[in-house]
Amino acid sequence: MKILGIETSCDETCAAVVADGRRVLSNVVASQTDVHRKYGGVVPEIASRAHLEALVPVVGEALEQAGAGIDAVAVVHRPGLIGSLLLGVTAAKTLAWLHDLPLVGINHVESHIYAACLEREALPFPCVGLVVSGGHTSLYTCDGPRSQTLLGATTDDAAGEAFDKVASILGLPYPGGPSIDSASERGSPKAVHFSRPWLGPDSFDFSFSGVKTAVLYHVRGYGAGAKTRRTDLTEQEIADVAASFQECVVDVLVTKTLRAAEVCGLDRIIVGGGVAANRRLRARFEQEAAAAGLDLILPPMPYCTDNAAMVAGLAYHYVQGGGVAGLDLEARA
Ligand code: KG4
Ligand code: ZN
Repeated sequence: MKILGIETSCDETCAAVVADGRRVLSNVVASQTDVHRKYGGVVPEIASRAHLEALVPVVGEALEQAGAGIDAVAVVHRPGLIGSLLLGVTAAKTLAWLHDLPLVGINHVESHIYAACLEREALPFPCVGLVVSGGHTSLYTCDGPRSQTLLGATTDDAAGEAFDKVASILGLPYPGGPSIDSASERGSPKAVHFSRPWLGPDSFDFSFSGVKTAVLYHVRGYGAGAKTRRTDLTEQEIADVAASFQECVVDVLVTKTLRAAEVCGLDRIIVGGGVAANRRLRARFEQEAAAAGLDLILPPMPYCTDNAAMVAGLAYHYVQGGGVAGLDLEARA
């Protein structure tokens, strides 16, 4: 069964075709990074308009690469920027109606977990799943592609949001996550100690806004505001602060995820979302999962950041298991 997936929840216009939930036949992503760069973040109205321009060519290319014969259309309908979601949902409904195909509405966060299932022989459940993206930091136990139980989530900023804001404080280029990742390579993770927000010994929740403020005060002085500028940091100091901040976030994410596996008696971990592309996070997960004897699945980079292959893959389980939507499917912010 071949499913066309569409993903427009934020600032990437994505379409993909996946066979039988696992085999990726095409995976096309049109990034809007260049459009939003001068604003230092995603401007929702501009994102919607850029999706409108990119959608038809992106879907066309995904279909062309995969060859004919689509059996269903899947689309992310929540959560995300409402204007952006509406574009994808309207396109998916139109295609489903026009070609009389089943329509599936997919939850974006659930699809980030499913990214770990793509191009694999067997499904990796049960496991502990961590989703770290620009909008979410959530830890789950996962019993199947459609079955997750939330263990903990962020109480304020998502991990990716903290990366993006710290990059902006340090004057590093947009998008911030990859910039911190690169700058950290030249810095020392021990240069500055940022206290780890554990939120209590048993907590599976996360909080990164305090670390972000600690970086701001370190760089611009105690009590500084977001607009206070201090431009006398050397390249090396910037790299050291980036590496120290990254180490703090990575420490918390890796430690809590491994503890969740221990507490829940699970021997497998999967990680998804844009921050899962972070090289230090991947290295630390690899080291520590191996030391603890845990099986670890880190999706290849193109399936970590937003993509539609994870959407089309997950949709297979909805078509098979009875989760088809009607043309009244709504986008939800
Ligand atoms: O999953 P995603 O593409 O979109 C959302 O669902 O939010 O995640 C985007 C987030 C951004 O905050 C971006 O800075 C972060 O993922 N990100 C990274 C890296 N690549 C992307 N963060 C740290 N290191 C990276 N290499
Ligand atoms: Zn995402």
